Amino acid sequence: MPANIIDGKRLAQEIRDEIGRGVKALETQTGVCPGLAVVLVGEDPASTVYVKNKKKACEAAGLYVADHHLSAKMSQTELLQLIQQLNGDHKVHGILVQLPLPAHVESHVILNAVSPDKDADGFHPYNVGRLVEGAPVFVPCTPKGIIRMIESTGEPVAGKRAVVVGRSNIVGKPVATLLLHQHATVTICHSRTRDLPALCREADILVAAIGKSRFIKGDMVKDGAIVIDVGINRLDDGRLVGDVDFDQVRERAGWISPVPGGVGPMTIAMLLANTLEGARRTAR
Ligand code: GUN
Repeated sequence: MPANIIDGKRLAQEIRDEIGRGVKALETQTGVCPGLAVVLVGEDPASTVYVKNKKKACEAAGLYVADHHLSAKMSQTELLQLIQQLNGDHKVHGILVQLPLPAHVESHVILNAVSPDKDADGFHPYNVGRLVEGAPVFVPCTPKGIIRMIESTGEPVAGKRAVVVGRSNIVGKPVATLLLHQHATVTICHSRTRDLPALCREADILVAAIGKSRFIKGDMVKDGAIVIDVGINRLDDGRLVGDVDFDQVRERAGWISPVPGGVGPMTIAMLLANTLEGARRTAR
């Protein structure tokens, strides 16, 4: 029987509706309207689309958006000055610096400059440390969305074998940490992993965050597994596909997330959720 689909688009819309109600309630009770500052540097086409979608979702849920689109030629000092200004802006409860930044800017310097209290992406070392410790404040959006998707299956995570393919700071490492906190037995695989297919076949939960079109094939997946596809890859013909060979894997998996309409919309919903949480903390 083909796998059940984890419909990220629908789940994200439910969460966004709930956030919209939360935003209204917070404004009514405290007068605080949650605000997100969105910082985009340069004209990277994928980043431009992501940022546009994030802003649209914020506005639809009633959040205030402070939009900062800067030239790719701007200096690191100018960007740091903007971050400092946003750190002190009472209307802003979350700051998103879209990555990647231009090569002449040191990303870690910029991310370290974002106030940990406004770090809606959860990328500041303080928030990374809190996450590892098991006392998270802001959880990175994509990993947080992936956990919500796994929860939506109703399948317990404790005791399961989870395999995360990809070890990025944005997805692989934090999602592995979150799965560990939910008592999964977690393996992180990467480009130097030996016999990756054999490890993937052991996974009850398989998270693919590789960045290679249709890399995970049907014979790499255990029967009944939960498969979460984080990839967004554009084929030569313009189509978007994930890191999972959807047609093959859906014949083996118990649950599978599609691309598009899977993790992407959940990332945006979690950004809104983090901004609302940030605003609630300041309004307390
Ligand atoms: N670039 C790719 N994914 C992300 C993300 O989740 N947040 C930010 N800020 N930049 C990204």
